[in-house]
Amino acid sequence: MPDSRPIGVFDSGVGGLTVLHECLVTMPHEDFVYLGDHARLPYGPRTREEVRRFAHEIGLYLERQGVKMVVVACNTATSAALPDLQEELTVPVVSVIVPEAHAAVQATRNRHIGLLATELTVSSGRYESLVRTLDAGSRLTAVACPKLVPLIEAGDTYSDEIVAAVREYAAPLKAVGCDTVILGCTHYPLLRPVFQRAFGREVTLVFSADETAREVAETLKRKGFDNDLAREGTYRFLTTGDPALFRSLGERFLQLPLGEVEQVQVAELEAVA
Ligand code: DGL
Repeated sequence: MPDSRPIGVFDSGVGGLTVLHECLVTMPHEDFVYLGDHARLPYGPRTREEVRRFAHEIGLYLERQGVKMVVVACNTATSAALPDLQEELTVPVVSVIVPEAHAAVQATRNRHIGLLATELTVSSGRYESLVRTLDAGSRLTAVACPKLVPLIEAGDTYSDEIVAAVREYAAPLKAVGCDTVILGCTHYPLLRPVFQRAFGREVTLVFSADETAREVAETLKRKGFDNDLAREGTYRFLTTGDPALFRSLGERFLQLPLGEVEQVQVAELEAVA
């Protein structure tokens, strides 16, 4: 019997659409509901407790919408809330950090990995512990990039300001000789060419959208949660912010038509928790 429930995906903003894009092309037969918490963006400078609370509210809200799985398409929410969310929800929760740490450990040749991420992701230390679990001989140097998410959410991907910020954040990782760098925020793949130019071709950039989509597909299959493989799925969008703003920026991240965007009030999320 095909499982027709949708898959829930969430992020603080449009960054998670890079993950949704990979999910849509990997599982074109599944239905998706994506929630962007624009009213409370950015998550990066907030406390762990706050982000944990937001993830808890959104996870429960999506579960009430009848999803069969929750994908945390946000490294910051994953860093702050993953184990709690997995305990609190009855549906499986898939996130972005484990596939990235895994890919970075596999890719590095000099065993010196760099991480670019939000302040909260860096301070959580989750990447360090994962990298060391996978290879105790690998080192990780992390740099917080507070300027990037607000610029990207403002629709800026090619300005002098972005290029200067990328150069500034890349410099310490180049100085210590990292040969592999994790773009540890779902907003950053949009800047991939800018990062690649700053680091040069010899540095491998790792980001997890495709790995995460593969993990989602594999989990559905193993649990017997697949929808009918012959159908074409649908997707819809919710934001706690301005739907028009979401629509204007979203297509660039999704690289597919966006369609309708509905608004959800933060109070509605708070009410389910
Ligand atoms: N896309 C989120 C992440 O992956 C952005 C964080 C933020 O809102 O600061 O970390």
